[in-house]
Amino acid sequence: MSRRNEAVRRLGIEHPIIQGPFGGVLSTPRQVAAVSNLGGLGSFGAYHLAPDAIGPLAADIRSQTARPFALNLWVGDHDDGGEKIDKSEFDRIFEIFRPYFRELDVEKPAMPARYGQRFTDQVEALIEAAPPAFSFVFGIPGPDVLARCKKQDIVTIGAATSIAEAEALEDAGIDLIIATGFDAGGHRPSFLARAEDSLMGTFALTQLVSRRVKVPVIAAGGIADGRGVRAALALGAQAAQIGTAFLACEESGATPEHRAALFSAKAEQTALTRAFSGRLARGLRNRWVEEMAGRAAELPPFPIQSWFMSQLRPAAVKAGRTDLISLWSGQIAPNLKHRRAGELMRALIDETAAAEAAL
Ligand SMILES: Cc1cc2nc3c(=O)[nH]c(=O)nc-3n(C[C@H](O)[C@H](O)[C@H](O)COP(=O)(O)O)c2cc1C
Repeated sequence: MSRRNEAVRRLGIEHPIIQGPFGGVLSTPRQVAAVSNLGGLGSFGAYHLAPDAIGPLAADIRSQTARPFALNLWVGDHDDGGEKIDKSEFDRIFEIFRPYFRELDVEKPAMPARYGQRFTDQVEALIEAAPPAFSFVFGIPGPDVLARCKKQDIVTIGAATSIAEAEALEDAGIDLIIATGFDAGGHRPSFLARAEDSLMGTFALTQLVSRRVKVPVIAAGGIADGRGVRAALALGAQAAQIGTAFLACEESGATPEHRAALFSAKAEQTALTRAFSGRLARGLRNRWVEEMAGRAAELPPFPIQSWFMSQLRPAAVKAGRTDLISLWSGQIAPNLKHRRAGELMRALIDETAAAEAAL
């Protein structure tokens, strides 16, 4: 099966299937290559990486595939009040975390110079690495960055959670637009209105956005098999971006406990929460989500909340604890079947062809 639509042509891929990027240590070059080598577009979520790690990352991916792939960054690298805090605010936040640090036997961390990476520095390194595609969320890069991408033949892919965001991406000259429904796992990457006010599902958003803009649209959220890919194409999308189903495969950076949870009955209940990063994101309910639910007003903005969680994560992962780490998941998790990226990719290709033939 090979649909030669404009999105597929622009990306230089064979199948209208994109493996969604996973920021924060969950993407791996191995998974990106597995998908790209089978004719899809593998993507690596690099927002957590220091700029000098981006060139070596691209080289690592290129050593495993000669096919197109995408690197992904977060344009908005902090929310209001999320860039700098004073010592007394740092200490106040730590008091929220203290019982959990004690429980995992982790010392109080020293105040860092920065809580996250700077997009403007990362994007310089990305342009230098010149990946075939650059996908981004939480905003739109400036005209200078976009002009340099064009010059370097880097295809740009922006994410929209509303019609207004899709129109803003089109006006800026972005090549492809992802319509990200609120069914999706991970962060709700809204940038014009609050994420809580941008909760449109993939089914409606894909139809609305693909009518409103002229550039090719990619549907994301709630797609995990060929039937879902076919449905996305029928709604006006030219490709589907799939996250949770690839996250559950052994090539992702998810812990074995996280993967097991995605295949368990727990996956029937997801929640949107700001408790892990300070930004709204969808994952499985666990103790951290429950205990922070009534304390949203006390939690700091992105990326400060994310930084505190990252200090706790290694000890929680080492102890195999799923109650204190993020268990990102989309709503489609109960339908997952495959545990290896190659198998998932082959099934997606065959099932999409079968769904097409049946129509
Ligand atoms: C754990 C996790 C991390 C993600 N990180 C990013 C990211 O850094 N950048 C991005 O553009 N999308 C990110 N996404 C979104 C996915 O790439 C994809 O669009 C989404 O998962 C599709 O919905 P689905 O989970 O229902 O398949 C993430 C999703 C998950 C589950």
